[in-house]
Amino acid sequence: MGTMSTVDGSTATLTGFAARCEQVSKVYGSGDTQVRALDGVSVGFERGRFSAIMGPSGSGKSTLMHCMAGLDRLSSGQTWVGDKEVTKLNDRDLTELRRDHIGFVFQAFNLVPTLDARENITLPMALAGRQADSSWLDSVIDAVGLGDRLKHRPAELSGGQQQRVAVARALAGRPEIIFADEPTGNLDSRSGAEILAFMQRATVELGQTIVMVTHDPLAASYSGRVVFLADGHIVGELLDPTPQLILDEMKRYGD
Ligand SMILES: Nc1ncnc2c1ncn2[C@@H]1O[C@H](COP(=O)(O)OP(=O)(O)O)[C@@H](O)[C@H]1O
Ligand SMILES: [Mg+2]
Repeated sequence: MGTMSTVDGSTATLTGFAARCEQVSKVYGSGDTQVRALDGVSVGFERGRFSAIMGPSGSGKSTLMHCMAGLDRLSSGQTWVGDKEVTKLNDRDLTELRRDHIGFVFQAFNLVPTLDARENITLPMALAGRQADSSWLDSVIDAVGLGDRLKHRPAELSGGQQQRVAVARALAGRPEIIFADEPTGNLDSRSGAEILAFMQRATVELGQTIVMVTHDPLAASYSGRVVFLADGHIVGELLDPTPQLILDEMKRYGD
């Protein structure tokens, strides 16, 4: 089993990563309008950990997440989810990988308005023709903590509750990894704290791996590790971060 260097120079076996990438670059456009959104990024995200990606606007956070999640193609470099090399997959296999091994949470909750909370949580599995592991589903639904609201439709739920349904939906299929892009961006601070605590619990109690893109130091402080991007490069990393440590680090890179 091989090893790879992490940003801080330590090493970990490849099996320790739910997802990783090696020397990835992404160039948008060509000629005068060319933008190098990612420039030789190598990073791994450990299993069972809540990790955050931070950086100034335009630093490449969403691009990195989208490429690692198989939503967009790289210009060069390699990415893996588990031991599957994402960069080798054709479109059909990519669709399958996203459906069966990756969960997504976006700023907009994207729930189906005509389905109740429980139905929304199980919809992707139903669409994939997969049977949910019922004891897993029970523990996810238990962790959501919406109790009798499971029969409610999205319009009858608060923003924070809707986003918890969206996170539970991502968890239901027990994916290798969940990618969340600014998941608390549309929430007031109390609902945001609720959803962050829930994602933290999902990693600690359910062993889920979550990678979250955020520009909010308080949100990132719920994670166990923050990776900092600037200008398409990884420029730093913090373990067990506090909001103050994150703010200090952000000042070094500008925003
Ligand atoms: N589809 C696109 N076409 C052209 N340029 C893009 C596209 N998506 C992102 N970019 C550019 O790539 C850089 C990184 O963008 P992005 O990954 O969205 O940054 P972040 O999420 O950190 O704000 C920015 O300069 C952005 O303008
Ligand atoms: Mg973004």
